[in-house]
Amino acid sequence: MTDQLIIFDTTLRDGEQSPGASMTREEKIRIARQLEKMRVDVIEAGFPAASPGDFESVKAVAGTIRDSIVAGLARAQFGDIERAGEAIRPAARGRIHTFIATSPIHMEKKLRMSPAQVLEQAVAAVRRARDFTDDVEFSAEDAGRSDPDFLCQVFEAVIRAGARTLNVPDTVGYTMPQQYGELIRSLRERIPNSDQAVFSVHCHNDLGLAVANSLAAVLAGARQVECTVNGLGERAGNAALEEIVMAVRTRRDVFPVETRIDTTQIVAASRLVSGITGFPVQPNKAVVGANAFAHESGIHQDGVLKNRETYEIMRAEDVGWHANRLVLGKLSGRNAFRSRLHELGIELASEAQLNTAFQRFKELADRKHEIFDEDLHALVSDESLAPVADHFSLVAMRAHSETGERPQASITIRAGATEQMASSDGSGPVDAVFKAIEQIAPSGAQLQLYSVNAITSGTESQGEVTVRLAQGERVVNGLGADTDIVVASAKAYLNALNKLHHGAQRLNPQA
Ligand code: KIV
Ligand code: ZN
Repeated sequence: MTDQLIIFDTTLRDGEQSPGASMTREEKIRIARQLEKMRVDVIEAGFPAASPGDFESVKAVAGTIRDSIVAGLARAQFGDIERAGEAIRPAARGRIHTFIATSPIHMEKKLRMSPAQVLEQAVAAVRRARDFTDDVEFSAEDAGRSDPDFLCQVFEAVIRAGARTLNVPDTVGYTMPQQYGELIRSLRERIPNSDQAVFSVHCHNDLGLAVANSLAAVLAGARQVECTVNGLGERAGNAALEEIVMAVRTRRDVFPVETRIDTTQIVAASRLVSGITGFPVQPNKAVVGANAFAHESGIHQDGVLKNRETYEIMRAEDVGWHANRLVLGKLSGRNAFRSRLHELGIELASEAQLNTAFQRFKELADRKHEIFDEDLHALVSDESLAPVADHFSLVAMRAHSETGERPQASITIRAGATEQMASSDGSGPVDAVFKAIEQIAPSGAQLQLYSVNAITSGTESQGEVTVRLAQGERVVNGLGADTDIVVASAKAYLNALNKLHHGAQRLNPQA
């Protein structure tokens, strides 16, 4: 018999906890739409008590998504649960996901609570969450290092209190697949009311075992896997959604489960998340890496030409490679532009924003003959389409480099209501532009990452630049795209400065 494996995506919550991966509300909505299109069962949209911005994002996702359950995370505290309950109120189906740590080290050193107190708080939290929704998930944080007898006690009690999903996180990525599978099997066998709940797993990748551990748990009876697109997440990340989904699909002979995922949406989701967070996908990454289906050696190429199954266990088109269609060109009209955005799940907030985006599209089409889906995503990622006005925006710039000469740049920026101009030299044109920007808007931030990726192929492609800036405790990613990579770099730097300028301090749930 085949069971359904529930895919719980936490890209917008645990994924967002990667340093620098924080997303704006609009970015979260775009990713949530793509997850819904991919038929993800549960979208964890954020941690509403973390900040007013997180609260608003979860609420906005809950108000937008219709076909997936929208979950909000809450510590096992009434204040957090009430915020989460409020944030998921607009959802067609909303879930509260509440958690408390159960391992000796977390209880003693972090929470400074006895096991009896933790048990009592877990039960009280689940009861309070049930006042807002019937769909309550409970997580025993650091379950991988918890005493299995205590886990049995806590899980039995929270099921009685009304939890319908029990999550067993390997929070620090410590367990081994066989051990973790055994833990799930024994919990299911030993907890008397275990048949009233779905067992869920949430594995971190500190030892590179997040996917292996999740799959071992599925074999032991877990029926929900928590995962993220591209394996984004705290530290080394979470289990990668695309790997879990394709493993159970490719090895139907091993796993007695099926997911609802439309796998042809996987590559689009991967690109969208990578573009928005600025975390590139390594070329040899399973399923979504650029080389995942590339056969280089002559023997392999020969084999694939004769029969593709000689070296291919999955078909590239089944995960959405080659779906990157040539969409629009210089002569395309406003309606074609609007309807392609709609097909991509991109809804702009107003006609004025659509007009601005269309004007940009025309400018881009003048410089670049073929406009691909990725170009459209980059175009609407531009912060100047965001409803909150940018503090800093690019007015004009010029960069000059010549063999044997030190590169020079001058830039005019609108900062609030005023326009200011500055010039600088630098070790390269990008360095000169960044120095000129810092003269106008001195942030003192440390540049942690600068990367350029061609959005599509060929030298006509737009370059997408990611700039990661750290200012004290805060780390932000700025993105910019343009066919001129020096201009893209300036846009990315200003985008990061805007995030530093607007951003409120967020709280990490595990902090
Ligand atoms: O890793 C973890 O334990 C978590 C919980 C909050 C589920 O992210
Ligand atoms: Zn986690």
